Amino acid sequence: MSIIVENNIFHLTNGGVSYIIGILNDRLEHIYWGPAIKENDVSYITEKSHVIWSNDIDIETLEMPFYGTGDYRIPMLELQFDDGSRIIDLKCEAYEVFKGKKPLDGLPATFESDIYGVESLHLLFHDELKKIHLLMKYSIFENGAITRSVELFNKSSNIVKINKIHSASIDFLTCDFEVITLQGAWARERHICRQPVQKGLFQISSNRGHSSHTSNPFMALVSPSTTEMTGDVYGMNLIYSGNFQAQIEVSPFEVTRFQMGLSDFDFSWQLQPGCSFVTPEVVLVYSSSGLNGMSQIYHGLYKSNLCRSDYKNKNRPILINNWEATYFDFDEKKLLSIAEAGKSIGLEMFVLDDGWFGSRNDDRSSLGDWTVNINKLPNGLEDLAIKVNDIGLTFGLWIEPEMISPDSDLFRLHPEWCLHVPNRRKTETRHQLVLDLSRQEVCDYIIDTVSKVLESANIEYVKWDMNRSMTEIGSSSLNHLHQMEIGHRYILGLYNILETITSRFPNILFEGCSGGGGRFDGGMMYYMPQHWVSDNTDAYERLMIQYGTSLVYPVSAMGCHISDVPNHQTHRVIALESRAHIAMSGVFGFELDLSKVSDEEKDMMKKFVRFYKENRELYLYGDFYRLSSPFINNYGIWQHVSKDKTESIVCVFKKMHVPNMREKKFRLTGLDKDKLYCSEDDAIKMSGNTLMNVGLVIPKGKSDFESFIIKFVEAT
Ligand code: GLA
Repeated sequence: MSIIVENNIFHLTNGGVSYIIGILNDRLEHIYWGPAIKENDVSYITEKSHVIWSNDIDIETLEMPFYGTGDYRIPMLELQFDDGSRIIDLKCEAYEVFKGKKPLDGLPATFESDIYGVESLHLLFHDELKKIHLLMKYSIFENGAITRSVELFNKSSNIVKINKIHSASIDFLTCDFEVITLQGAWARERHICRQPVQKGLFQISSNRGHSSHTSNPFMALVSPSTTEMTGDVYGMNLIYSGNFQAQIEVSPFEVTRFQMGLSDFDFSWQLQPGCSFVTPEVVLVYSSSGLNGMSQIYHGLYKSNLCRSDYKNKNRPILINNWEATYFDFDEKKLLSIAEAGKSIGLEMFVLDDGWFGSRNDDRSSLGDWTVNINKLPNGLEDLAIKVNDIGLTFGLWIEPEMISPDSDLFRLHPEWCLHVPNRRKTETRHQLVLDLSRQEVCDYIIDTVSKVLESANIEYVKWDMNRSMTEIGSSSLNHLHQMEIGHRYILGLYNILETITSRFPNILFEGCSGGGGRFDGGMMYYMPQHWVSDNTDAYERLMIQYGTSLVYPVSAMGCHISDVPNHQTHRVIALESRAHIAMSGVFGFELDLSKVSDEEKDMMKKFVRFYKENRELYLYGDFYRLSSPFINNYGIWQHVSKDKTESIVCVFKKMHVPNMREKKFRLTGLDKDKLYCSEDDAIKMSGNTLMNVGLVIPKGKSDFESFIIKFVEAT
């Protein structure tokens, strides 16, 4: 891995991938990103990619485009100065190459680890007239992932208004692409959406205040022929939990601009003299071996170089959560009966969900009043945790600290603490409002209150929820000039809270949640190793959601539970076996009233729990490959392979049973071609080579929504 600098050309490479930029014509130009290029060829490529015959910079491949000097495509940076002008003229002043990577002030970001080393390049530009400096930050990790972010410094004595500042922009000299995004809604998050790239502008974004259920901050450009296993993929993923934007623009000259960063919708920032603005980080991944190749790089990086928690490599407890078992209707006796039933099937943790605080008996009140609801739990949380511990389970708790119910003591005391615009209606969702995290006193209150709760009992896990999108994004603590900063200030406040709480309680396992998977992003992953994937626990729906989520995020980040049937979201009845198979391909748990489950089902559950415990390491920390997409095939298939390739679990889910059809065969991947593999029941004994080239015959089965798990171990 190295960063080679010659004649103002900067070549970032790990030997497998090259990313080449250069200062040409006084501008930072994008020269190449793709399979590694020999250093000797760099000057040739530079000559060929650089356009020297035109006065029009609209056709060039730029790395840091801005508006007003002849590039009419979407800019990465839009500023306005005190005299009203918007013209920027940036000249490179200096550069620095160094081992390692510097943190981003106030923002989560990837870092160096024992697994993947990193080298960085900082390029400093300045605008002489307006006295602004722009630092372009690049890093390349050993596994080929590249990160970019930008820091803008105001060295003048006037305010500079930022109207748009994206983290990365790349121009490709082709438009022969398709675009992949992860789209959805509540209960159907991160479905894979693939469509041709066409002339003009294409955008996905979130303007909801959180990264959202509807669009994930991820976009990939792929060759039209790219599959899971083959072809070019260029991925971008923003490490950010708030409003974002990802854009593609194909110019009349068939150059494709690919850009990602903070959303410029409802955003502007007054950059004060002497201050700087740091953008979130974009992680860029190129793969020539299809979508799986890209996912492997993201998974590896996020597991070891983004997630900070002590739990990132530890076994995560198999938990039972009471939400779908009781909703708000519980008392201590009921909870303990569920915990006892959980213990009897081998579970390891009991999690108390919503309804334990204030006077919360439904979703109409009490968010903000984080003291125990003594009508339901007269002996308090500490006593409940002791009783759960006595049963032999650890104890975890749900909390939603960023919210406030209008019917709460907190609201009665501080009505100004919610996001709102004075004299306007405050739009409630689920009868709740969002606390204004741009206010320091609100962040301090949350840190203080959550700390008190976490110190009040033996709490070893927290489910940190955030159940609504933001509306009336305004703050009464800032003047009119700063109102369009609130969305970003909220996220900075949130990161500050999470930094304090997770450092103060390093032994607690945190699971993020946002009405299911409404904030499933790299920003949250930095603080919390696992996240609730979706409120939809129907196995068929989860097949899609988990498949899509795995494009970027590792299995060890996905909270997946077995729930009851008929399923509470879809009313579908799917066999326990299929529900278990899908839920085991993640951080496994249960979410149903176990005290009402039949002995026969309990026996089956025990078997799944035992299997998961035996294979937890393989599931969570092995390599994960997608083999057959449920978005386009009747079979959704994926495979977990241990790092040493001695073990593998293949998980097959058949959507619909097709009558009078012969068995299907699927090629496995990721195995050692020279090893002999044997299925657990000894029925299959084949070399890795045969399993990967000829394939594995999948049983026909007899019904809809059926699944199979086949575990292979190296034969001795
Ligand atoms: C959200 C979560 C659920 C549950 C409820 C409680 O919807 O996604 O899992 O915790 O809140 O109100």
